[in-house]
Amino acid sequence: MKRIRMVAGNWKMNMTYEMGRDLVMQVRDGLAPSEVKVVFCPPYIHLKPTSISLHDVLNLHVGAQNCHESEKGAFTGEISASMLKSVGCEYVILGHSERREIYKESHKLIGEKVKAVLANGMKPIFCFGEKLDSREAKKQNDVVKKQLKESLFDVIEKEDIANVVLAYEPVWAIGTGKTASPKQAQEMHEFIRSLVAKKYGKEAANLTTILYGGSVKPANAKELFGQPDVDGGLIGGASLKANDFVEITKAFF
Ligand code: PGA
Repeated sequence: MKRIRMVAGNWKMNMTYEMGRDLVMQVRDGLAPSEVKVVFCPPYIHLKPTSISLHDVLNLHVGAQNCHESEKGAFTGEISASMLKSVGCEYVILGHSERREIYKESHKLIGEKVKAVLANGMKPIFCFGEKLDSREAKKQNDVVKKQLKESLFDVIEKEDIANVVLAYEPVWAIGTGKTASPKQAQEMHEFIRSLVAKKYGKEAANLTTILYGGSVKPANAKELFGQPDVDGGLIGGASLKANDFVEITKAFF
């Protein structure tokens, strides 16, 4: 088995219905067939139409940006994992730094969401990464280790790690135009893979897809994705521009 390479687009809270529909079509038509998996993670309103547009297109998938940890109930405004599954979602972004920061999501809550997504047969794209002050204090490895332990390693069994995509996103690089250097990304990804190996074994670690996120654009994607432990990217801003997103998916070749 080979490690899956992936580019996922996190639209965040952008794109009206019409704009989103056009963007999906433009990207779909611009992509060359390849073995790189491409995941669209638009706001909830776009999930069903996107999954219809991508139906049967090899290696194109749909993901959500969040979900509630409970199966159903009186949670006004929330969406459950089974609802996401029912509109064709295969992936769910969890633990994004904006959810941690703005909505105060705790390690424990993120762990519950991970379980809900896996229980519904989807794959979490589990985001984590240090803030600038931790990097400056050279504490980035400790931060990442704790995030992985408390929301993932303490929560899921060995058979589930194959269904989790990891996304290392240093918070200081998200939406700032400041990208981790290829060397910084590689060092951290290698460390992350070693943690997965320690917990779930070397074979599982070798098969785990670890994405880098934080100001990835066509100009830097090739060098980042060229690192041995960087298996692709989670793309924010550049996923809103069809040409840029398509270019990024080609950065592996
Ligand atoms: P960015 O966002 O590419 O705009 O930095 C990445 C993310 O938040 O996933």
